[in-house]
Amino acid sequence: MTQQPSPTKSFLRALAGESLPTPPCWLMRQAGRYLPEYREIRSKAKGFLDLCYTPDWATEVTLQPLRRYGFDAAILFSDILVVPDALGQPVRFQEGEGPALTPVRDDRQIAALTLDGFQDRLRPVFETVSRLKTAIPTETALIGFSGAPWTVATYMVEGGGSKEFLAAKALAYGQPASFQRLIDLLVEATGDYLVTQIDHGAEAIQIFDSWAGALPEDAFDRWVIEPTRRLVEKIKTERPGIPVIGFPRGAGALYKRFVEGTGVDAVSLDTSVPLDWAVAELQPRVTLQGNLDPVLLVTGGEALDRGVDRILAACRQGPFIFNLGHGILQTTPPDNVARLVDRVRRVRG
Ligand code: CP3
Repeated sequence: MTQQPSPTKSFLRALAGESLPTPPCWLMRQAGRYLPEYREIRSKAKGFLDLCYTPDWATEVTLQPLRRYGFDAAILFSDILVVPDALGQPVRFQEGEGPALTPVRDDRQIAALTLDGFQDRLRPVFETVSRLKTAIPTETALIGFSGAPWTVATYMVEGGGSKEFLAAKALAYGQPASFQRLIDLLVEATGDYLVTQIDHGAEAIQIFDSWAGALPEDAFDRWVIEPTRRLVEKIKTERPGIPVIGFPRGAGALYKRFVEGTGVDAVSLDTSVPLDWAVAELQPRVTLQGNLDPVLLVTGGEALDRGVDRILAACRQGPFIFNLGHGILQTTPPDNVARLVDRVRRVRG
């Protein structure tokens, strides 16, 4: 084993298990439509994926929230759905309607997906990571990311967003061997994608499993924990020293099994996770990240202050990164984000 140098950036120190007097802070979806400067760039791009695949634009929108708020981490601007797009299942984003894909629901459709040319199609994303590596401030860490295989598979099988996941669950429960082939393909593609992000400059990885909470425990073990464990193992083996944050949103009490079973260095807590429980059961093993209700950031004022203070009081004795419990909402007033960052930074030892 090669000895890893100790990190100096506060975000990476927290991920390495240090408890810091002022926790590092970044916010999921910190780049996005709540910022007027984002909407300006977005209006130049034909579709949302053009924005993700144009390094000039993707680099610029990644930097926008850093300029305003000086977050401790930047997250690559892209989307979890570039993976199916690059596997040959084109993704369209219709204005106000979310993503649309032609569903993949049987062996023949799954077999038509291909890793040939996968990394080539994602070259613009890797180019963005390279540019960000030199463009961000020296004290800011760069996060690469992907969706987790289960969440990405739900979009691929449903053909878009879903409430009940009827088609994805029908495949997972009814034809597990076929669903396993899709998950295996996603593990392979996503693993290569994340390792290549690291090779271009990503210093930490977050794996978004937004729909983890939709599965009962046996299916959670098979379709959430096991694929994520394989991704973490690949990163730990091939690029040792790069920390991984898992986000099994909605997992409830299964957060504990997720932490024990996947080998992640940190977990991002959704808004509903009780903090005393997380501090007692999870923080001894991993760094906690989270979990302010994004609606409090829309609300602002003293409700926001109280929400921030409650989380800091509960979590800051151990390794902790301040974040939301889910992404920033479009109606968030930018001034409220400044108020949040001031509040988090005000608290000391
Ligand atoms: O956090 C960041 O600032 C980095 C960029 C990022 C985006 N999406 C940009 C985006 C990240 C990390 C994501 C992750 C993502 N994408 C997830 C997991 C996290 C979560 O929110 O649960 C999921 C499920 C997606 C899939 C996705 N992308 C959907 C369902 C939508 C449409 C809904 C919406 O908000 O419009 C997107 C589009 C998207 N991804 C936008 C942004 C800024 C908005 C598109 C636009 O500007 O037109």
